[in-house]
Amino acid sequence: MRVIILDTANQVAQYAADLLLETVRKKSRPVLGLATGSTPISTYQQVINAVQAGQASFKNTTTFNLDEYIGIDDTHPQSYRHFMKHYLFNHIDIDLANTHLPMAASLDETRLVENAQDYENAIQEAGGIDLQLLGIGENGHIGFNEPTSSLRSRTRIKSLSESTIEANKRFFADGEYQPHLALTMGIETILESKHILLLATGHKKAAAVKAMVEGPLTAMCPASALQQHAKACLVLDQDAAAQLS
Ligand code: F6R
Repeated sequence: MRVIILDTANQVAQYAADLLLETVRKKSRPVLGLATGSTPISTYQQVINAVQAGQASFKNTTTFNLDEYIGIDDTHPQSYRHFMKHYLFNHIDIDLANTHLPMAASLDETRLVENAQDYENAIQEAGGIDLQLLGIGENGHIGFNEPTSSLRSRTRIKSLSESTIEANKRFFADGEYQPHLALTMGIETILESKHILLLATGHKKAAAVKAMVEGPLTAMCPASALQQHAKACLVLDQDAAAQLS
């Protein structure tokens, strides 16, 4: 694992955007793995700025997002499809047909299990993910792989932990239905990406970052699985790195 510590969250975003743009420029058919959440928003803004300035094109890029809530339609303002359109896809020259998120609107379990397998197949058919962008939960989750998730897990239905539901409450209006299940890439699915770039900013992530980098490899901290990946790069700001020895 390579660990890069920068001074500010803004520098983290710039670093991440540069790496995403470099991958898009270098490959004839780039495949990116993307994340939602607060952390990558400023990275996506930097990417948008570069594309709008004519410095890169996403015309040939395919994307796969980590996860999607189960039981809400992809037009729902809290769906991750909606998030990605709002913060990235609508502002760059990507073909929406090449953007993928797990199909999770159905509440039918058999259908969801099939959709999970289809997602795995689609990633394989695209040639695998060249660069997977990740955030980290305060409890060490990656994607929606919560603590105790199998390190060999594949794309599947996952119940969200109480702490994740609590952390995401801010995105739902009072009294609004908040999903407690998600369809998420598994830890093994993530580890198959050729390169991994995990971003962590802010002091709230400091304990999870310490467990990921200096703790044991354990399902109790899913992000610790990145210790096994030869090309995983963590980019942290000073606050997120504060507990590293
Ligand atoms: C998002 C995702 C999550 C987030 C994590 C951190 O697609 O899979 O694992 O990366 O919850 O979220 P933020 O960035 O909001 O702190």
